[in-house]
Amino acid sequence: MVMHGKDSPLRLSRRRFLQGAAGLVGALSLPVMGQSQSKLIERPIPVSGETIPILGMGTWQTFDVAAYPEMVLRRTEVLRTFLERGGGMVDSSPMYGSSEETLGLCLERLSDRGSLFTATKVWTPMRWLGIQQMKQSMQLWGDDRFDLMQIHNMLDWETHLETLKAWKAEGRIRYIGITTSHGRRHEAMEKALSREADFDFVQLTYNLLDREAEDRLLPLAADRGIAVIINRPFRGGDMFDLVEEKALPGWAAEIGCDNWAQFFLKFILSHPHVTCAIPATSRVDHMQENMGAGVGPLPDPATRRRMIDFMQTI
Ligand SMILES: NC(=O)c1ccc[n+]([C@@H]2O[C@H](COP(=O)([O-])OP(=O)(O)OC[C@H]3O[C@@H](n4cnc5c(N)ncnc54)[C@H](OP(=O)(O)O)[C@@H]3O)[C@@H](O)[C@H]2O)c1
Repeated sequence: MVMHGKDSPLRLSRRRFLQGAAGLVGALSLPVMGQSQSKLIERPIPVSGETIPILGMGTWQTFDVAAYPEMVLRRTEVLRTFLERGGGMVDSSPMYGSSEETLGLCLERLSDRGSLFTATKVWTPMRWLGIQQMKQSMQLWGDDRFDLMQIHNMLDWETHLETLKAWKAEGRIRYIGITTSHGRRHEAMEKALSREADFDFVQLTYNLLDREAEDRLLPLAADRGIAVIINRPFRGGDMFDLVEEKALPGWAAEIGCDNWAQFFLKFILSHPHVTCAIPATSRVDHMQENMGAGVGPLPDPATRRRMIDFMQTI
């Protein structure tokens, strides 16, 4: 796991520097207090019209700590902050070690689940193993239904789709999804989404450096009325390493960015076909930063172009 702790003082001083710069920030973006009180932007799930917050939370690696009670307590605070700031989707998978168990332990400690939208995955070949795995996920999360069940990395997807349709009809899950990441299997995904009418969500990787999905998958999802979840918004954390010694450009304040996390996330969230992004973090201060991306202005097409060009100079 990449640790970014040493970045925090740098980002603070950068923030103070920007705030001091000719009163620019005060005029154009909300102060941090104001941001925490604002409601997150929401987007509709096309198939139902139900809206969900534009920011969710991933759990790969960051929540794989069920065996360590101290860490479970710290992740509980991460999840509490996420929900208090109006976060929606929490995404996990049986592939993520003990993350689902950790989530169950965290949720037990929280009295208010806010706008929680539960999302996990089935990640195994074979129908009966899939059913067993999904039942186990329910036990681990401490719930007897999920808002969204996704087929992880398209594994044996035609088999699981039949089970998921039946489970949806029975009310055990509300939506059906399918995932990929790292730009893998886009062609196969395109075929699956074009052929099957039953996918309500697709999850894929999209960020300032990985933009292949713009060409075909994002427009296809919009055409087919499929909600889009964005994974690896920070390329697994690598994007912070790229900008470690770099100051945010002054114009980032115009779109309400106080830090790099918000710069990266606001680019993703401003794509019109994105329903929500699911950044992962193990830290409350990082969660606070990330949630700040879901309020205030989003970049317009010209600013998005500027962000892309800027990243190419790094
Ligand atoms: N095929 C699939 O279905 C698939 C594949 C990949 C991912 N996913 C889902 O997508 C989620 C997100 O992707 P990801 O976890 O790979 O990567 P990510 O969200 O792009 O990056 C996570 C990393 O960024 C760091 N970070 C987060 N906020 C930060 C901040 N404000 N400042 C500095 N560093 C920050 C985290 O470190 P700290 O802990 O120190 O904050 C962590 O190391 C996953 O957790 C998972 O739920 C699904």
